[in-house]
Amino acid sequence: MTLLVIGSTGTLGRQVVRNALNEGFQVKCLVRSFRKGAFLKEWGAELIYGDLSIVESIPLSLYGVSAIIDCSTSRANDLYNIELIELKSKYILIESAIRAGIKRYIFFSIFNSFNYKDIPLITLKIMIEYRLKISGLNYTIFHLPGFFQGLIPQYALPILDKQFIWITSESSSISYINTQDVAKMTIHSLSIDQFNQSTLPLVGNKPWKSLNIINLCEQISGRRAIINTIPVYLLNFLKNFTKFFQWTLNISERLAFIEMLSRGYNTNAQMKEILYILHMHEKDLEQLEVYLQEYFERIMKKLKELNYQTLSNEKNINPIEF
Ligand SMILES: NC(=O)c1ccc[n+]([C@@H]2O[C@H](COP(=O)([O-])OP(=O)(O)OC[C@H]3O[C@@H](n4cnc5c(N)ncnc54)[C@H](OP(=O)(O)O)[C@@H]3O)[C@@H](O)[C@H]2O)c1
Repeated sequence: MTLLVIGSTGTLGRQVVRNALNEGFQVKCLVRSFRKGAFLKEWGAELIYGDLSIVESIPLSLYGVSAIIDCSTSRANDLYNIELIELKSKYILIESAIRAGIKRYIFFSIFNSFNYKDIPLITLKIMIEYRLKISGLNYTIFHLPGFFQGLIPQYALPILDKQFIWITSESSSISYINTQDVAKMTIHSLSIDQFNQSTLPLVGNKPWKSLNIINLCEQISGRRAIINTIPVYLLNFLKNFTKFFQWTLNISERLAFIEMLSRGYNTNAQMKEILYILHMHEKDLEQLEVYLQEYFERIMKKLKELNYQTLSNEKNINPIEF
């Protein structure tokens, strides 16, 4: 089976490519920059030029492909193009997939998306989900919560950097998941017919509130977090205010997401059945504690090395002093 991975340079996409290659699949990656995708070629994938905002480039990329895994999503600096990237290009991708007789089509959406129809990105995702459901394709839609990887810039780095961490006064529980686990289950699902024409959640095995994650980071790193709490009503005000101006739409989108997290984005879905079908067990999914422990250990080691190097360099520069 030859896979086309779209969004292969992204957080999830690169793990999907890695896992697919490990499992012996032929992998084509649609990239808009060969330089940025060079590491995928080194891993053994084939690079194909394509840009979702240049819709003409989409149909040709499907040549010789039997399954599509769409991990793409608009980048923060592309939000003016959000409708083109998240809707129009994906409609064309689905039309092209039908014509090309694609055997499997995997799409990633947001967990509990139907509860958040007022957020533009989520509305577009829901429209694509609907289009896939009536397409006749063998689709699988995975509903995802947040990724472990997203917690590093959100909590771990500000703690290391002594920067403020902004949280809302009401924080809901989210069952974050490692993208490596999502990739593993996605690739595994390609060979299982029960996943055809279905919409399923893929979530981690424990729900986390912001404060619990911050406490965990503090415990592991031995450093204190500087927390700033913002009331939800203020967040709402800012979101509605920034929506009025084209140049602040980007901020408005981000605030809408933060607000979504603060009003009951609970991801306590039962993964048991899915894991059972995949012949996996809950303990096969990585725990956040382990992920963060490894992250902080790596960073602390790097910091020690840098410190040591700086001291050695200073020794060389100023031999009299040492
Ligand atoms: N991140 C989360 O916490 C989260 C939560 C729930 C669901 N999801 C879903 O999971 C999927 C993967 O998310 P992610 O966080 O891994 O995304 P990401 O890291 O932001 O990566 C986005 C990918 O899409 C590509 N892309 C963007 N615009 C493109 C265009 N015009 N043409 C071609 N490629 C384009 C990017 O390519 P470049 O490198 O060239 O920019 C990149 O490879 C998405 O469907 C997302 O909605 C994510």
